[in-house]
Amino acid sequence: MKFKKKILCIGAGYVGGPSMAMIAYKCPDYRITVVDINPERIDAWNSSELPIYEPGLEQIVKKTRGKNLFFAKDIENQIKENDIIFVSVHTPTKTYGTGADMTADLQYWEKTARQILKYSRSSKIVIEKSTLPVKTALAMEKILSSAKSKFKFEVLSNPEFMAEGTAISDLENPDRVLIGSHETKNGLKARAELIKLYSHWVPKENIITSNIWSSELSKLVANAFLAQRVSSINSISALCEKTDADVSEVAKAVGMDKRIGDKFLKAGIGFGGSCFKKDILNLVYLCRFYDLKEVASYWENVVRINEYQQERFVSNILHSMFGTLAGKKICILGFAFKADTGDTRESPAIYISQKLLMEHAELIISDPKALKNAAVDLSGIKGKVKYIEDPYQAAAGCHALVILTDWDLYRKLDFHKIYKSMVKPAFIFDGRNIIDHKKCFSIGFNVHPVGKPALSHFKV
Ligand code: NAD
Ligand code: UGA
Repeated sequence: MKFKKKILCIGAGYVGGPSMAMIAYKCPDYRITVVDINPERIDAWNSSELPIYEPGLEQIVKKTRGKNLFFAKDIENQIKENDIIFVSVHTPTKTYGTGADMTADLQYWEKTARQILKYSRSSKIVIEKSTLPVKTALAMEKILSSAKSKFKFEVLSNPEFMAEGTAISDLENPDRVLIGSHETKNGLKARAELIKLYSHWVPKENIITSNIWSSELSKLVANAFLAQRVSSINSISALCEKTDADVSEVAKAVGMDKRIGDKFLKAGIGFGGSCFKKDILNLVYLCRFYDLKEVASYWENVVRINEYQQERFVSNILHSMFGTLAGKKICILGFAFKADTGDTRESPAIYISQKLLMEHAELIISDPKALKNAAVDLSGIKGKVKYIEDPYQAAAGCHALVILTDWDLYRKLDFHKIYKSMVKPAFIFDGRNIIDHKKCFSIGFNVHPVGKPALSHFKV
């Protein structure tokens, strides 16, 4: 079949894989190829066991793979072959040198730019899909125009707003698609090309355009605002615990105000995931760079409250269990940073598990999708850890259940059965406020939610 356009995506990760699968699914007249420097990742995308778990992804990949969606290893050749290149490589927080622990490590990004320049044999549109500090497109342009090439490269910004666990529905029905471009003739032409692509399924009014710098910054700001809401409600959860108010009731009352809205007001153990912290720190670094100290410290506190929430949670477990966890068995229910993903990057479960192990607790970790990643995250950490997928087996013989991920299956557990199999007094620390606390208390558990009064069988 003759395809109207040939599109390449460099980076076959959580964003590159699902977003390109959706483009292939919605644009059967376009050929999409995804490449990665990690050959095992490409093999996994070509196998029956995809490298990431995402509801609905497998169905879409099955419908498109081998027809107009291809996963390939020959990066050089694919750069030559394709007219439009999305770049979706990772941009983690830098761990060394200037800006360490704050700014984005752009080495993968820059390497990609150099590869595009080196192997291109025609002019191309290059699209930033990764999340990047403002003005990164400028660096990309400088690299792409550094050799006296007869080819022209037009750089666009098209940040991705999907969330893990809901990636497929987010990609299919995005609140908005943002395209940043230069207002030049070539910039507008490239922008029109990308609008044409998304118009295959996204309503015109949901496709918005801006200059490149606004587009780059909007992505950081969107994540910062979302994370800020989580930290705001978590900060209030601490006050609720001191005053016998209930954070869910407060969140409901506050969120019913249409100006505030009810989303992202669930108190818990704090936000995880590969992006919120990284993107806020990136924003903080940019503000410091431009000498906006007050702005930087405002946003930095969103991260600080997130850390505080996790510290508080661990300290609550320790004090509620009589000040010692040594030799006690604790069942961790959920290790993924949120439900419906196997991703554990920056999961609060990592920090909380480490702290519990430092108290010499024994951990039995359960998760329906994230046990492999959990084992990698905790490798090298001293202490006794077992990984058991079945929550009933994991809980048997434990002193406490600690719920760290909002998997739906934990809401539906038979807590009578679990209680019978545990050491008494049995505790539940519900870090996501997802189970029926009163019911568990009536079964015999001592129940410790976040931001609500504890339900304890001990007087005093
Ligand atoms: P990821 O680590 O899952 O995937 C990145 C992939 O890029 C890896 O497989 C890596 O091997 C590959 N790669 C790195 N350098 C390469 C090179 N030179 N050539 C070819 N492949 C290369 O990361 P991700 O979660 O997909 O995130 C990618 C970007 O998207 C980040 O900037 C992130 O902030 C942003 N983002 C992520 C999400 C999310 O939900 N994970 C959502 C929106 C935006
Ligand atoms: C987030 C954004 O929601 C996406 O728009 C963005 O594209 C993405 O980051 C990114 O840039 O990577 P994601 O991290 O996948 O998506 O998941 P979220 O649903 O935002 O949850 C992030 C964290 O906040 C999770 O740990 C979640 O449990 C926590 N959270 C979320 C709460 O604790 N309370 C809430 O009310 C909402």
